[in-house]
Formats: sequence, C-alpha cells, structure tokens
Amino acid sequence: MQNLNTTFIGIPISSPIVVGSCGLSSTVEGIEKLAKAGAGAIVLKSVFEEEILMEYEKNVLPNVGPMGNDLEFFDYYDYQIKTEVLNKYVQLIKEAREKVSVPLIASINCRSTSEWMAYAVKLEEAGISGLELNLFRLPFHTSQTSEQLEDEYITIINKIREKVRVPLAVKISPNFTNLVNFARRLSATGIQALVMFNRYFNIDFDIKNEQVISGGAYSNAAEYMLPLRWTSILSNRLECEVVASTGIHTGEAAIKMLLAGARSVQVVSAIYKNGPTHIRAMLHDIDSWMKEKGYESIDDFRGNLSQTMADNPEIFERVQFMKYFSDHKA
Ligand SMILES: Cc1cc2nc3c(=O)[nH]c(=O)nc-3n(C[C@H](O)[C@H](O)[C@H](O)COP(=O)(O)O)c2cc1C
Repeated sequence: MQNLNTTFIGIPISSPIVVGSCGLSSTVEGIEKLAKAGAGAIVLKSVFEEEILMEYEKNVLPNVGPMGNDLEFFDYYDYQIKTEVLNKYVQLIKEAREKVSVPLIASINCRSTSEWMAYAVKLEEAGISGLELNLFRLPFHTSQTSEQLEDEYITIINKIREKVRVPLAVKISPNFTNLVNFARRLSATGIQALVMFNRYFNIDFDIKNEQVISGGAYSNAAEYMLPLRWTSILSNRLECEVVASTGIHTGEAAIKMLLAGARSVQVVSAIYKNGPTHIRAMLHDIDSWMKEKGYESIDDFRGNLSQTMADNPEIFERVQFMKYFSDHKA
C-alpha cells in the first residue's frame, strides 16, 4: 500500500477520504463501520438549530394552554429541547471516541449568531477533533446585498473563532457571485479548511398530481466537475486547506480532486448507495493508480493540475461553449 497520509483541518489522517456530514454517522455502530472501512475522518450529522425550533413548534406550542403568554415558559422549553438535542449529540461523540481512533468532527447549522457560538462551545467541550460550520441560508431577502450576506458569514466565523480553539472547517455552497474573493475572505479568518461544496435538499414537481416533491437526496457521479474546477482554481490561492465535496463517487474522481490540489475529499452519496466498504474500494483504486504512476505519497502528485501548476491555466476560466470547444473532439 502506498502512503495515503494527508491532513484534514490540519490533523494528520491516514486516508484522504473523509466521510461528509450525513445520517450514516448518527450512531456509534455507523461510525465504527465507516472507520473500519478506511475513512480518514468522519464529520457527524449536523445539529440544526432549525430542527430544534421545529420540534418546539410541533410539540410545545400546541400545548401551552393558559401559560401561553408566559415568556419564561417558552424560554424554558426552548432551552429544554436544545439541551436534550445537544446532550444526545455530545453523548454520541463521547461514546464514539471510545470506539474509534479516527478524528470525529462535529457539524452545526444555526440561524442566529448567538446560537452558533453556544453550539460550538458545547460541542468543543465534548472532545471533538474539529468543527465544521455548515454555513448556508437560501438568500431570498430582496433588500440584502451579496456583500451583506457574505459579511454575515464572516461575522459568524469570527465570533466562533473567538470562543473555540478546535480547528474549523467551513462548508459552503457554490452560489457566490465572486467565489475567489469570498473564499479568500473566509480563509483569512483563520479557518483550517474550506469544504467545497455542500449539496442541498432539492425540490421537484410531480406533474401528475401537481405537487411539490423531494428532488432526491443523492448526487450523481458527474457532479464532481463543479468542485473540480473550483478546487483547481483555489487550492494554491488560500491559506487554508481546500477539501473537495459533491459527486465524488469513485477512486478516480478522488484522484482528480487531489490532482486539483485538494488536501482531502468528502464522500457521502456513494457511501449511501454502495455501503461503507465502498471507501475501501476507492482507496484501493487510488493506491493502484499511485503504484502505476510511481507515486509513493499523495504529496508526490497533489496539485499537479491546479490552475497555478497547469500548462494551460486559461482553460480553467473558459466557460462558454464557443465553436472551438463544441467542435473539439476530446
Ligand atoms: C442523506 C444526506 C444527509 C445529509 N446531511 C447533511 C448534514 O446534516 N449536514 C451537512 O452539512 N451536509 C449534509 N449532507 C450533505 C453532504 O455532507 C455532502 O456535502 C453532499 O451530499 C455532497 O456530497 P456527495 O456528492 O458525496 O453526496 C447530507 C447529504 C445527504 C445525501
């Protein structure tokens, strides 16, 4: 076996395949299976402030009765539900840490700045190796500018960094007007890794019943090309690690991301579709390719096709199907 060591959020890991945040890591048994299959690190399912708010609305509000106007009553239950959810998460981290040696990363998604900080502090106390901020809100406020929205992200990160010492990863969507500028701003906050990109719950339409339905949770194997371009463009331009995510279903796609300069890759859909042992199969394919190419370690080839290292850096900036490209036989 070649040397597959790399880092995630600055922590040494023995394989470049990190399991992205998802339900597969929501039990100790699930975490053990992923670790046994060769995951370099595991990001736990996000704890969502919104989920806590939804539980509050579903279970507490209908039962308030005569206490309905008592603000302390509301606060008490809000606090109770939050404490319960966070305690369960902390318990999972503690139990899993006893069983596996791979780094476990907690993930959070909040609405308000104060909650982001409260959750981060609580999870740091549980002994996690790092924290991933699942930073996204669908931007639909007509009066908010892109810059204001980006400033909000930076404020949240800065405030969390003031409170916690564990390494931070930030996972973002691709939907920013000037991604290079924003990624540099994110990196300058001192985060250890930028994960590109998250993939969100999609909606679809059922035209027979004229209803809105789920668009399916999983990515397909062609979706890696968007993070591939941006990993190549950004990997040598940021102070933090670039971690590629979305559409990485095979060892081949993982190799491409490493060639683009990713320090590690996050995989989710392919593990849902094929089971945890798929991690081992991907690692096997990376190892075989490295042997064939004569690479002993990931650092021997990482970034060879990043934009700054490539022979034709301008190709990364071509986006239109001009005649030359549409006629061009690959
Ligand atoms: C079933 C499922 C649950 C997920 N849950 C979360 C989550 O709780 N937090 C998060 O940041 N991302 C979550 N994701 C997104 C993944 O972490 C990942 O960013 C995305 O699926 C793209 O990777 P993939 O193409 O390998 O699936 C989830 C994805 C799936 C499919």
